[in-house]
Amino acid sequence: MQKPFVYSFGAALLVLFILLHTSCKKEESISGTDLELYNMATETEGFTWYQNSDILLNRSAASGHNEAFLRTRYNTVASTHLDATGKVKAQTVFNEGSLIVKELWSNELSINRYAILYKQSEHEFADENGWVWGYINTDKTVKAPSSDKGVSCISCHMQTNNIDNTLMNKYFP
Ligand code: HEC
Repeated sequence: MQKPFVYSFGAALLVLFILLHTSCKKEESISGTDLELYNMATETEGFTWYQNSDILLNRSAASGHNEAFLRTRYNTVASTHLDATGKVKAQTVFNEGSLIVKELWSNELSINRYAILYKQSEHEFADENGWVWGYINTDKTVKAPSSDKGVSCISCHMQTNNIDNTLMNKYFP
């Protein structure tokens, strides 16, 4: 075999290897605000559970979320709006910095996704009530980007008897 042929064959193999390697690499589509929301949602310290309970609830019939089970938690800022029974106080307008994380479980063993509400009025993705909407899979891929500004969420979350766009009280009284 001619040496130049061996070299170019080797080079071609190398290129093929690099191409295969990069295309097989898991996509890290998450960045910016979605990554920030993901990091805050996976940090479980300092949260209070809705109705003070971490048991998995059956999704309500009206849920816009497909998973069978859910449970919802409130960070230290948001939890100041919960009463002693762990329900959101009537007429609440959540304070800046409030973070509400709904864990969506496809079965009793695995969380599939986080649905997130983050009160950050000055944020570029905030809606007119100051909420940034996050919808992020546990594998760190994004189901609905926060840059969508809750376009697929808001109409449902504006229904009668919402409290500052939240629905847990209505469906889990
Ligand atoms: C068709 C109606 C509907 C749509 C669309 C919807 N949701 Fe919800 N959401 C609910 C209901 C009902 C609840 C109460 C718990 C349950 O049954 O799932 C809820 C609960 C939540 C909660 C817990 C806080 C609370 O009390 O509301 C968050 C956070 C949330 N949704 C985020 C989102 C995000 C983000 C989107 C869009 C990507 C979205 N939701 C789209 C109906 C909807």
